[in-house]
Amino acid sequence: PAGTLVDTRGRPLRDLRISVTDRCNFRCSYCMPKDVFNNEYAYLPHSALLSFEETTRLATRFVAHGVHKLRLTGGEPLLRKGLETLIAQLAALRTPDGQPLDITLTTNGSLLARKAQALKSAGLNRVTVSLDGLDDATFRAMNDVDFPVADVLAGIEAARAAGLGQYPDGRPGALKVNMVVKRGTNDDQILPMARHFRGTGVTLRFIEYMDVGATNGWRMDEVLPSAEVVKRLQAEFALVPLQASAPGETAERWGYAGADGRHDPLLGEVGFISSVTQAFCGDCNRARLSMDGKLFLCLFAGQGYDLRALMRDGATDEQLDAAIAAIWQGRSDRYSELRASLPADVQQAVRRVEMSYIGD
Ligand code: GTP
Ligand code: 5AD
Ligand code: SF4
Ligand code: SF4
Repeated sequence: PAGTLVDTRGRPLRDLRISVTDRCNFRCSYCMPKDVFNNEYAYLPHSALLSFEETTRLATRFVAHGVHKLRLTGGEPLLRKGLETLIAQLAALRTPDGQPLDITLTTNGSLLARKAQALKSAGLNRVTVSLDGLDDATFRAMNDVDFPVADVLAGIEAARAAGLGQYPDGRPGALKVNMVVKRGTNDDQILPMARHFRGTGVTLRFIEYMDVGATNGWRMDEVLPSAEVVKRLQAEFALVPLQASAPGETAERWGYAGADGRHDPLLGEVGFISSVTQAFCGDCNRARLSMDGKLFLCLFAGQGYDLRALMRDGATDEQLDAAIAAIWQGRSDRYSELRASLPADVQQAVRRVEMSYIGD
């Protein structure tokens, strides 16, 4: 397509997050609480899922529109059978000017020790592992399926050993650990996590607990503002602010300083994802594709656009391109910026799509 595609707020489309399954083997209370995601929960049937060919076809259309980063999410993406096959198809795609894509995956790490090498061989560049604490009892309680923390740490190690810590351009710090911080639940894990990952090449990022979905019973008093997390870290470590490495990035970056007071790359960096206290919608360039082929323009969008229906009705690539362009050009979403000004009942009504469905 000629020119850059931008939405009504001038934001380009750069990042496509593809959810490949709505299932997960964890039951984190902030995402898939057990009382909702139980035996009776209606997950999507296999026939509703995009096939790998359909997924790759749609990804190809998004890449033609300027997407250069693909993130596979879920649910837990490593539960999707044969995921390596999809990764290999996606890794073969090139941007219009011939560059490879940045292909990454968000995982809870439970199957990573087993799969890291195959994922790397298929063409995955890097991974982000969710990990909410180092204390085994705290971690087992947060995943709510009694999964031991040692197995996730082994998964992170396997990812590093397999070389899954690489940006395509060679910058360091691409292997990331995301920790959702809930005040009173795991905020005592902030310093142990920082101590553990400092100097290991793994970038630890603290995420403010968000009001996503309608099932997690979110309350503002369980949010620990990132400013508070920074303060707690600064009591022990010297930190210096770093430049954003890409426009529209979710995380604010801080580097660990060495004895000279400057960022020491060997000590690495930490990040803060503060969508509650410091919204970053202003240059949000992320689109989300659910496993059943709906395009969502915001993590908090109430509904998606059914691209699977278009495809299964026989749309040509040109028709798909036109549809994607029209949808993105009509985009005005900026929920996190508006959150504070919305009345509580409107906030409640807006938060409809579950993160396990739309992807993170
Ligand atoms: P990198 O490519 O490694 O920089 O990752 P990223 O910046 O795309 O972030 P990542 O995929 O690691 O997302 C981290 C977390 O940030 C997610 O799990 C979500 O909790 C949150 N997040 C990501 N994107 C958005 C977004 O567009 N809006 C909001 N409100 N939160 C987001
Ligand atoms: N708040 C913040 N992050 C969340 N995630 C899921 N639910 C929430 C929430 N309520 C994100 C976390 C987790 C990933 C799988 O999804 O980053 O690591
Ligand atoms: Fe699963 Fe990740 Fe959701 Fe936890 S946060 S239930 S690991 S998808
Ligand atoms: Fe983007 Fe919506 Fe998140 Fe804002 S709330 S950063 S618009 S996904």
